[in-house]
Amino acid sequence: MSEIPLTPEEEMESGLSRKQFVAAVGLGAIAAPVVAGAMTGPASALQGQDLPLACTPGGSTTIAQTEGPYFKPNSPLTSNIVPAGASGTKLTVTGRVYSRSCKPLVKVLLDFWQADNAGNYDNYGFKFRGHQFTDANGAFSLTTIVPGLYPGRTRHIHVKLQAPNRPILTTQLYFPGEPRNQTDTIYDPRLLMNVQTVPGGRTASYEFVLNVP
Ligand SMILES: [Fe+2]
Repeated sequence: MSEIPLTPEEEMESGLSRKQFVAAVGLGAIAAPVVAGAMTGPASALQGQDLPLACTPGGSTTIAQTEGPYFKPNSPLTSNIVPAGASGTKLTVTGRVYSRSCKPLVKVLLDFWQADNAGNYDNYGFKFRGHQFTDANGAFSLTTIVPGLYPGRTRHIHVKLQAPNRPILTTQLYFPGEPRNQTDTIYDPRLLMNVQTVPGGRTASYEFVLNVP
């Protein structure tokens, strides 16, 4: 399925309230905001990563992007969104979620969805859809495949993030070196993951910074 250019209405769809989002993923009340201790600072998490991914205290927060036409509420609670028997190049996406002051944020909801290896979204079930929460170190890990291409878009993964009692951030993650990064009008290099080829597939990482003090 292709992802058509976005209308203003679709842009507005990303303005889902926290209440709606919590309901959407089938969760009840989320615990009060908890900020992890400073034992695990951003410096250690950023080793070996490019500067655009770094969290700088008081620096930029992760930018929002449209959710597009294929978000579905009620995704399963899982960090592995690969259905049995799926084809594709294995991809593990890891990273952390930080506050503006670069403290790791725990219990942040991350809801991922993406196309399969053929560039199709599962609009009937929940293949390649799933949500998880950051751990005590503000870290997450997603087991998936490299998403396929479909007309009109470069390669990307969709995600919604929500720290406890905070607004939702809807955005997308991108892959370096993709030819269509040059022509996709939604693409933004600030959302490039650090991608490595490893035995058996690829790894990618991204450091999110939410507008949390
Ligand atoms: Fe998409």
